[in-house]
Amino acid sequence: MKSINAVGIKNRKSKQETSRIGNVSSYDTDTATYNLNPPPTILAIESSCDETSVSITRGREVISLIISSQIDIHEQFGGVVPEIASRHHLEQINFVVDEAFAKANMTWDDIDVIAVTKGPGLIGALLIGIASAKAYALALNKPLIGVHHIVGHMSAVYIEHADLKPPFISFVASGGHTAIALVKSYTEYEILGSTRDDAVGEAYDKVARVIGLGYPGGPKMDKIAKKGNPQAIDFKRIMLEQGSLDFSFSGLKTQVINHLNQMRQKHIDIVAADVAASFQEAVVDVIVAKVKMSIQRTGYNKLALAGGVASNSRIRARLQQLADEMDIQIFFPSPIYCTDNAAMIGVAAYYDWISRYATKPAETARYSNATNIADMTKPANAINTNHQTSPTGKINPAGATNPDSTAKSNIENVIMGDGLDMDAYARINL
Ligand code: KG4
Ligand code: ZN
Repeated sequence: MKSINAVGIKNRKSKQETSRIGNVSSYDTDTATYNLNPPPTILAIESSCDETSVSITRGREVISLIISSQIDIHEQFGGVVPEIASRHHLEQINFVVDEAFAKANMTWDDIDVIAVTKGPGLIGALLIGIASAKAYALALNKPLIGVHHIVGHMSAVYIEHADLKPPFISFVASGGHTAIALVKSYTEYEILGSTRDDAVGEAYDKVARVIGLGYPGGPKMDKIAKKGNPQAIDFKRIMLEQGSLDFSFSGLKTQVINHLNQMRQKHIDIVAADVAASFQEAVVDVIVAKVKMSIQRTGYNKLALAGGVASNSRIRARLQQLADEMDIQIFFPSPIYCTDNAAMIGVAAYYDWISRYATKPAETARYSNATNIADMTKPANAINTNHQTSPTGKINPAGATNPDSTAKSNIENVIMGDGLDMDAYARINL
């Protein structure tokens, strides 16, 4: 087990404050969002892939964040082995929770809400986080919020940009997802385009493997590409139909493999740095073109990045250049918030929590009462259904309760998300 990272300890909530979760304190007309004072203290768990992460957050503030990475375990296999990942999550989860409390100088008494990544991700890995979160919630009688992993990634940018408010465009690029999304509000999203085959991170990882860089490929490709010539090999830019905001990267991966085979057949030395730089430039050209199109089409003037690939130095530089040219604002999360981490899940859960329980000042009492699992079974009309389903392209971030579901187990409602827009879910899960 490698790399336990911790984000520092910030101010601790007083005992007096813990006696209530918070009241609606102000209303932001720009985003139609109520603020809670104090915001609930959330313990968030993320276990969708090869990082076991736990964070304690309050609003957008990260009080502690622990990420226990399994990279060194999976490195020898050249990629994440799901069964091994699940076992390590199981071994690590309680220690990581303890570590998050130690860093925050807090105990369970300080926690108001539990949040967990509900998917998408490796099913066995997700189950460890979800089962732990359910057990904590049941044993401690605390409410539980299930968070869509990609909504978590898109929410990471709030942590270090206190002034950033929706609406904005989010470019999401991770190992499993590539999407251009409109973040219409803190809980409403519309996917304008996503990948039709490989995700960007997946393409980086696969190309890294064929040029012998090993796992995890993305950061290694980023590093080696700096020494290469991006014009060395003229890989085709796959733009799909005119005007499409979707992506396709598997053809580019095949182009790289064909190029390597041809070079080997001709006994010509392969310059890995040139291959990496040329591949990267082809990827980045497409990303820049599509992001530019999405800005022109929507007229939005703010762009945010999300996901592990958002750490890529070339993608950051080229999108910064685009933002300067188009005179729009751009927001980057630090690399620790780009990679899979539980802080982003806590922040996303905070906004979901507000949308459910802080809908009108008159409903404050209901919010304050909703401090245990039983209270989460409030009639559906007590719940803001802002983030309900749409025919296409919308994510239902945390499984809004639907009118017919109140009789079911409350934890199941929250985690599995009754009313989940399966079409949108499938689209973003490509
Ligand atoms: O978001 P993330 O941590 O996990 C998923 O949700 O998938 O993203 C991991 C992906 C991996 O494919 C990794 O190779 C890629 O992000 N990645 C990068 C860089 N850092 C991580 N890809 C390109 N350049 C980077 N600097
Ligand atoms: Zn991720």
